[in-house]
Amino acid sequence: MGKPLPASSHNTLTVRDNRTGKSIEIAIEDNSIPATSFKTLSAPRGKEDREENETEKGLRVSDKGFLNTAVMRSRITYIDGEAGVLRYRGYPIEQLALHSSHLETAYLLIYGCLPTSSQLKIWESEVMHHSVVHADAEQFFRSFRYDAHPMAILTSAFAYLGSYYSEANPSLQGQALYTKGTPDSLAVMDKQIYRLIGKATTLAAMAYRVRQGRSFVTPPTGLSYTGSFLYQMDHLGEENYKPNPVLEKALDVLFLLHADHELNASATTVLQTGSSLVDPYSAIAAGCASLYGPLHGGANEAVIRMLISIGSPANVPAFIEAVKKREKVLSGFGHRVYKTSDPRSFIVRRTADEVFQVTGKDELLETAMALHEAAMKDEYFIKRRLAPNVDFWSGLIYRAMGFPLDFFPVLFAVPRVVGWLAHWRQMMLQPGGVKIWRPRQIYVGESSREYVPVEKRVAEQGPKETPSQISHSG
Ligand code: CMC
Repeated sequence: MGKPLPASSHNTLTVRDNRTGKSIEIAIEDNSIPATSFKTLSAPRGKEDREENETEKGLRVSDKGFLNTAVMRSRITYIDGEAGVLRYRGYPIEQLALHSSHLETAYLLIYGCLPTSSQLKIWESEVMHHSVVHADAEQFFRSFRYDAHPMAILTSAFAYLGSYYSEANPSLQGQALYTKGTPDSLAVMDKQIYRLIGKATTLAAMAYRVRQGRSFVTPPTGLSYTGSFLYQMDHLGEENYKPNPVLEKALDVLFLLHADHELNASATTVLQTGSSLVDPYSAIAAGCASLYGPLHGGANEAVIRMLISIGSPANVPAFIEAVKKREKVLSGFGHRVYKTSDPRSFIVRRTADEVFQVTGKDELLETAMALHEAAMKDEYFIKRRLAPNVDFWSGLIYRAMGFPLDFFPVLFAVPRVVGWLAHWRQMMLQPGGVKIWRPRQIYVGESSREYVPVEKRVAEQGPKETPSQISHSG
């Protein structure tokens, strides 16, 4: 090992390409360097690179899974994964969970500051007054089968919703619809934000009711965001029906905790999709699809399925051994950014106890607690710094509140619409405009070859892929 170089006052990085001897000096800004700097480094021609053309285009930066690649400069959410810190616009998540509401936090995330009381009133009224959907939407929901996964319905519903608003579509109104930053352009943007947040609960409740064989409920007036949501889900024609206030508040806290989490897979998908300047409804539908997977927002559903399969605390040790042998996955544990407990998990755990006071304890709680305890003191998890994330406890609350298991990811997606919109708005208005997100690949396939007519082809040697043969049964 060579001696470390003396510290320099230059805020730069010097890189030497040992293939050619060429050195470049790259400016460091905000503790980051632009990946395009490496484009000026090329392999000498004729080396063993597979594609000669590739060598002319400069050195690529490879980062499968975006482990260390920043794609935005953001002012929205800060996470310190080592210390277990999460802040929205600088405010600690613990303070917001204690004092704020989901809609107030939504304003904060999207517009950057806490609203005054009059701003909050207008904001809440705009969002809540945009909760009603067109009567035609009923037919759309009824076109799904009774056993359709509600995330399939919700994802489709966001794209469907966009078809109502031609004035919100840059393909029809001009590409700069959202990027101009003029008062008119901002007003169009705000309207879509009201609509998407306001109608998210309505679409989710409709996805629920259609599967229960219930008629749809018009969003009520005078209730909170989560109060209105619970009303739309549960109202069966009782007079003066009101959701339970403890459950309404608990759901509001859960919504606030799920409102944003910087550039997770779904927020990144929204930005990737939005970078083509498509309308926000299509971008949110894409985010919804990304969130649905079991490694992301589908983990809350996966946790409960896992706990049911474990069955009782007595079976926890065998399950832990199976995880260590990679036969099973411990859903609700681990995170790309947190290397300690997710700070949201403590708040969710406390909220669970408040909910259980109303609903009674969930029978899976003891298994969950035994699993948590066993994992936290097991060398496998300690070494890899795996701790509970937000999804470990949230499913138990949703179950106790009576939501069906496959509805859990919907309860993650609905509040996350806020974070998706905050990131989308920030990108649309960023200095320098929007750049389409078009990553590069490292081509490792065949080099140029001649087409062979079918009658002259022979089956190629070696492990080539061929399609499976499937019967024509459907
Ligand atoms: N159970 C067992 N082993 C795990 C787990 C887990 N839940 N998570 C990570 N590991 C292991 C992984 O196998 C790897 O081991 P090794 O180094 O020996 O190969 C090591 O820990 C590092 O994990 P990784 O896969 O490189 O981590 P990642 O950052 O790529 O993945 C994750 C993060 C959340 C996808 C992953 O931890 C996971 O699959 N967790 C379970 C699903 C889950 O709970 N997802 C919800 C995430 S929080 C809510 C949200 O924002 O979506």
